Amino acid sequence: MAEANRRSAAVPNDLEAFWVPFTPNRAFKRAPRLIARAKDMHYYTPEGRAVLDGTAGLWCTNAGHNREPIVDAIQRQAAELDYAPAFQFAHPKSFELASRIAALAPADLDRVFFCNSGSEAVDTALKIALAYHNVRGEASRTRLIGRERGYHGVGFGGISVGGIVSNRKHFGTLLAGVDHLPATYNREHQAFTKGEPDWGAHLADDLERLVALHDASTIAAVIVEPMAGSTGVLPPPKGYLERLRAICDRHGILLIFDEVITGFGRLGHAFAAERYGVTPDMITFAKGITSGAVPMGGVIAREGIYDAFMRGPEHVAELFHGYTYSAHPLACAAGLATLDLYRDEKLFERAKKLEPLWADAAMALRSVPGVLDIRTVGLTAGIDLASRPDAFGKRAYEAMERGFHDEGVMIRITGETLALTPPLIVSEAQIGEIFDKVGRVIKAVA
Ligand SMILES: Cc1ncc(COP(=O)(O)O)c(C=O)c1O
Repeated sequence: MAEANRRSAAVPNDLEAFWVPFTPNRAFKRAPRLIARAKDMHYYTPEGRAVLDGTAGLWCTNAGHNREPIVDAIQRQAAELDYAPAFQFAHPKSFELASRIAALAPADLDRVFFCNSGSEAVDTALKIALAYHNVRGEASRTRLIGRERGYHGVGFGGISVGGIVSNRKHFGTLLAGVDHLPATYNREHQAFTKGEPDWGAHLADDLERLVALHDASTIAAVIVEPMAGSTGVLPPPKGYLERLRAICDRHGILLIFDEVITGFGRLGHAFAAERYGVTPDMITFAKGITSGAVPMGGVIAREGIYDAFMRGPEHVAELFHGYTYSAHPLACAAGLATLDLYRDEKLFERAKKLEPLWADAAMALRSVPGVLDIRTVGLTAGIDLASRPDAFGKRAYEAMERGFHDEGVMIRITGETLALTPPLIVSEAQIGEIFDKVGRVIKAVA
């Protein structure tokens, strides 16, 4: 102990040891963007400088930062029950939270499996899909279908069905037996659309081509983000999700909506499934369930999927899957307090009400030099910038840096796209402030 203390005292708190995820480490460590605390719509640097949160953290702090009811719930829970085994035992709040989530989900999406992140949620949903067909005697259904430009986290399942090349190319052969639908974006037909574009529903028909190629008897599930977020905000074309649903129904294929970003109010509804009137067989969620305060993710499955597993000897687990921290007490407490806040402050309705004003404010940047396209849906906007000839992504990267250091606004970037997705508590004045700052930043990096 004494030795450990001596060593830790001797280790300077420098930037070297931490390998920062999804970040260019050398550039970051030369000019770090450090955040020391947060409240409501703002972050604060260690020096106390305020940074307006234009991104709800990583699309997750939907209720705003450090909200008192959530902080209190976590503190009380930590003092009452730190941990209970997640297998063979459970604590009361896990059932309460599952019931609350089931009540928010559409139709008979009533059974909730908990994990700790979006990536785990995706891998869980894919495994449930495979096992579901297996227990029903259709074990030949092993193929999984994702979509180009899709993001489903970083597990091997998620990157296999995902379609972002940088997330896949260094990691070997990935899962076997995966195919992809085409991406739904086409600038020529869709540029500067508010909400769902008119063009593109026919792209769902590509699923029929994949069925013809592989045969439906080999296909377990299709997974898509209803609105593709991480690739740069691609709202679904009008009618696209309906068509996917119809084709899946025709061929006995499960449809999974990855709602890790779209869940909990981002598109003005509890889930995007509700906005689009399309009921998937499973929904994955994470992020907004605790407003980012404690890691949590999960899968909501239709009752019939759960029921298919409820067979065999009653002393044997029906699904051999789970995580040490599934339904962790702190996450459940945070989740319950977060859902209360969403309900009491009507935050999903608020997002819906603000959507037109948000979209107008975003589109006001369309004539700024270097802007190639702007897309909006719910409280989300993607702004594509023209690349410099020799360095794809550099202009957006500089925009993010300048946003933080010079303008005091947090911008998310992916490739050459700026993504803006504020907490749902954002005020009308703050929407104006976000786009004023972003407009100045884009001009500065022209
Ligand atoms: C649609 C979608 N699925 C999965 C994930 C992965 O979530 P996590 O980073 O919590 O593993 C994300 C993260 O942004 C996401 O947007």
